Amino acid sequence: MERINEYLGRYKGYSFALGWTTPEYLDALHSFQIRDSDIFLVTYPKSGTIWTQQLLISICELSGGLNEYPNNREQMPWLEFPGGREDYALRPSPRLFSTHLPPALTPAGLKEKTAKMIYVMRNPKDNIASYYHFHKVMDVMKNPYSFEEFLEEYLAGNVPASSWFDHIREWHSVCDQYNILYLTYEDMILDLRGAVVKVCGFLSKNLSDADIDKVVEKSTFDAMKEDSKANYAFYERLRGDFMRKGRIGDWKNTFTVAQSERVDRILEEKLGDMNLQFIFE
Ligand code: A3P
Repeated sequence: MERINEYLGRYKGYSFALGWTTPEYLDALHSFQIRDSDIFLVTYPKSGTIWTQQLLISICELSGGLNEYPNNREQMPWLEFPGGREDYALRPSPRLFSTHLPPALTPAGLKEKTAKMIYVMRNPKDNIASYYHFHKVMDVMKNPYSFEEFLEEYLAGNVPASSWFDHIREWHSVCDQYNILYLTYEDMILDLRGAVVKVCGFLSKNLSDADIDKVVEKSTFDAMKEDSKANYAFYERLRGDFMRKGRIGDWKNTFTVAQSERVDRILEEKLGDMNLQFIFE
């Protein structure tokens, strides 16, 4: 394992916060036993992970079969962080997992294409702004002195989960190898009900219109901010809010015009061939 700085390690090209996981644990995930009924949420950090957790948990609760857990983190744990793994084999189906891992480090069994996966992408400028603010309030991440400094680290992939550009390219390049639904944060903002209906269709969950409305109500920014299971205020390493602004275009409060144009250029260079659409405002 390479040590990038006092907070960050890199293993097989993947950067992670030191102390959160280990190379041995990441290697062991290759043979993690997948069930056909497993549901995996895959994101780059700050792309709407806890939002989609709330949506998936609410859908599964209404369609029956979930155990009660104190909060969404325990209901839908991050696969790459060891805490809680003791009971994974004992959980009833469907089991729900979250992960920020790249395809190469995810369990081989996911390629059987029976377990369902949902990938959520957010436009890079809002992603960067959100991650910058998050670094300032997470005690296990390097507190950036300035946005300028953070932007350099982000563009170099020296942040937990490595390069956003690589994450997007890698997960979109393997679409035919997994049973995967692609969503975007912006589509969820613009039409939350439409996203819930899409996810229900993908998971073959036949919810009534009234139940779909309930999922939408539980997943709005305001409802989640008040929901102690979903808002991550319980998160002991955090000195601020997970639920910060929840908008498209907030990056404009952080970026200079030159920084924004630089990200545009890098986006075109790195992902221009992929035909992805981004909504920035
Ligand atoms: P901001 O920092 O821009 O506010 P993740 O869960 O992947 O870490 O992403 C966190 C981002 O998702 C934060 O963005 C947070 O506010 C936003 N978010 C969480 N729940 C949301 C919701 N219900 N609606 C809109 N945005 C939400």
